Amino acid sequence: MDTSEIGRVKESFDQAVAHIEDLKSLQQLKVEYLGKKGKVTGLMKEMKNLSKEERPQFGAAVNETRNHITEIIGQKTQALEAEALEAKLSEEAIDVTLPGRDFSLGSPHPLSLIIENIEDFFIGLGYEIAEGYEVETDYYNFEALNLPKSHPARDMQDSFYISEEMLLRTHTSPVQARTMESRAGKGPVKIICPGKVYRRDSDDATHSHQFTQIEGLVVDKNIHMSDLKGTLELFAKEIFGEEREIRLRPSYFPFTEPSVEVDISCFKCKGDGCNVCKYTGWIEILGAGMVHPNVLEMAGFDSNEYSGFAFGMGPDRIAMLKHGIEDIRHFYTNDLRFINQFKVTEDGGAKNESI
Ligand code: PHE
Repeated sequence: MDTSEIGRVKESFDQAVAHIEDLKSLQQLKVEYLGKKGKVTGLMKEMKNLSKEERPQFGAAVNETRNHITEIIGQKTQALEAEALEAKLSEEAIDVTLPGRDFSLGSPHPLSLIIENIEDFFIGLGYEIAEGYEVETDYYNFEALNLPKSHPARDMQDSFYISEEMLLRTHTSPVQARTMESRAGKGPVKIICPGKVYRRDSDDATHSHQFTQIEGLVVDKNIHMSDLKGTLELFAKEIFGEEREIRLRPSYFPFTEPSVEVDISCFKCKGDGCNVCKYTGWIEILGAGMVHPNVLEMAGFDSNEYSGFAFGMGPDRIAMLKHGIEDIRHFYTNDLRFINQFKVTEDGGAKNESI
């Protein structure tokens, strides 16, 4: 055994390490040379066969080779680790210039928009929003509103009965009766009630068996017809434009006395006559009146002390007039091409982009 054997071990290591390309193979090579049964360790074991004189020189040469191998493996480990990190980073890199995913913004339903506009207006006047039931009793839908069983005016609202006593409400007026009753004869009551209502109608461009109403009710001491008129005048200006005027025509509802039909001056032709107002200059938008004393009394209010006004309007019709929508069925058939035309404006109002 001489030092040339050491030289061969070193040379074979140098050759092998040059071909190593991953950390796992490098680890195996390390074991092969420096491990317990490794080649360098094997050289050390040869020492015992050498003469005393030869040992120091041989020992120093083996040490040098071991140091060499240790150092190269250290360097190679660092290099391979850096390479692996680099590969991982470039693989995970995010290209910030790629276009993002498109989250398109939906549109609120035009009826929701108009109802929110109307709610905002009345909340501004101090009204509360009240809710009732779409499945109602005959009592609240009719009787408590001064429409006893045989009353001919029941025919004005063809109904979907569920049983003798239960029906789909035909108007939002039962909420009047329920709210007044819940206040146990004490005013003031100042509510609006938006909601769905149902009537047995054949659906066509202007009729739908399901539609929406907003009921308004104010009950207090000293409430007069002039309060109703002033409120509705403000409402017309808010929803249809500053220059709008209103006109009251005598009408009949069993739950109000006197009753009126309310028209607004046409917002399209400003009164000259056009197809929207059917050449009259006026558009009918709601029914209203002073709460009938019988209705007040049935709900527990003393009609000598309290009086009130009520009104009912159809958001469907108002939205149709405002946006020039020609068919009420658009509201209930959920065609996105229709709904997507409506956007919320900055002041929270509705805008139909195609008009
Ligand atoms: N409930 C009535 C209808 O549906 C509308 C209305 C409400 C009229 C309140 C007067 C007062 O026809």
